[in-house]
Amino acid sequence: PSTEEQAILEAYQWLTKLYHHLLRHTKDGKKGLEYLYQRGYSDESIDTFQLGYSPQSKDFILQFLENKGFHRQTMVKAGLLTTNDQQNYVDRFQGRIIFPIRNAIGKTVGFGGRSINGQDPKYLNSPESPVFQKSKLLYNFDLARSEIRKKSEAILLEGYADVIAVHQAGAKNGIASLGTSLTDAHASILRRYVDTVLICFDGDDAGQNATYKAIKLLKNAGCTVKVANLPKGYDPDSYIQEFGATSFKENVLQASSSEMTFLINHLKKNFNLQHEGDRIRYVESIIGEIALLKSPIERDHYIRDLSDQFDLSYDALNQDLMSRIRNNS
Ligand code: UTP
Ligand code: MN
Ligand code: MN
Ligand code: MN
Ligand code: MN
Repeated sequence: PSTEEQAILEAYQWLTKLYHHLLRHTKDGKKGLEYLYQRGYSDESIDTFQLGYSPQSKDFILQFLENKGFHRQTMVKAGLLTTNDQQNYVDRFQGRIIFPIRNAIGKTVGFGGRSINGQDPKYLNSPESPVFQKSKLLYNFDLARSEIRKKSEAILLEGYADVIAVHQAGAKNGIASLGTSLTDAHASILRRYVDTVLICFDGDDAGQNATYKAIKLLKNAGCTVKVANLPKGYDPDSYIQEFGATSFKENVLQASSSEMTFLINHLKKNFNLQHEGDRIRYVESIIGEIALLKSPIERDHYIRDLSDQFDLSYDALNQDLMSRIRNNS
């Protein structure tokens, strides 16, 4: 790495320690610590994920970094400092809980900062930098990797808070993309380690739409995809808070469904199934999805399902399927 990259990495290591120390051991950090406790995060999780707090101070971080000999320009490039209206250099993450974002070898390369006083945006992330490329980075991949290999399954979550809550609940193979949607690069990194990805995004429209997109990407990369059974209105973190770890593992993770079952339900939302025309277009769109499945046994299974559910001739559905498969290849 260039000396500038090196400096950025070093600054991130220093600040990871400093923010964590401030959270743990200072009066200023108490607000942050109490916030985390109140959300149910344990001391062990706080230490494992090196959570921190950045004090509400104009120049504390600037002083710290300058004392260590870091240049302001480099720190701006690193996304640690920003300039305010008065052209002063200030800490980007002031007054926020700090989630260090580690790369695949466990080095902090970015921060996510969560506001705890209602300030927008809720999460502020480090910008792209020479060491931080969001399209290739998966949160917690360094810690989750061995468990992912062991189980041959990764749990894909929406956010840092979810990864930590799920880890605390005992599922240590959770990872997340970083406030951006999943990319082809993410999918192919995952494919190198796992066969199966279990998607557990938030139970809201945004989460469901993101699930649909992630399924497409992951299937393209050659993964088997399952979708967790998270009720509407919850995310993994809030579900665990309300119903506990055991219920989460049994009723959400283990009660996952196949990607086709998800698609069948998800695509329904675009149609009014009371209308015959819509019903037929819906069935056709499902056959389009079934045609993409590799296994003839699976394809047959879902075609039979459709035929039963909509009281349509199995032979007709199958013919439609076969002609689509011919067109796809
Ligand atoms: P969510 O809004 O679902 O947040 O965004 P969350 O993970 O449940 O966090 P809590 O529980 O409110 O603390 C999911 C992810 O999208 C990114 C973050 O990575 C977040 O974890 N995000 C969200 C941002 O980058 N900026 C935002 O303002 C909001
Ligand atoms: Mn500690
Ligand atoms: Mn969300
Ligand atoms: Mn959420
Ligand atoms: Mn949440």
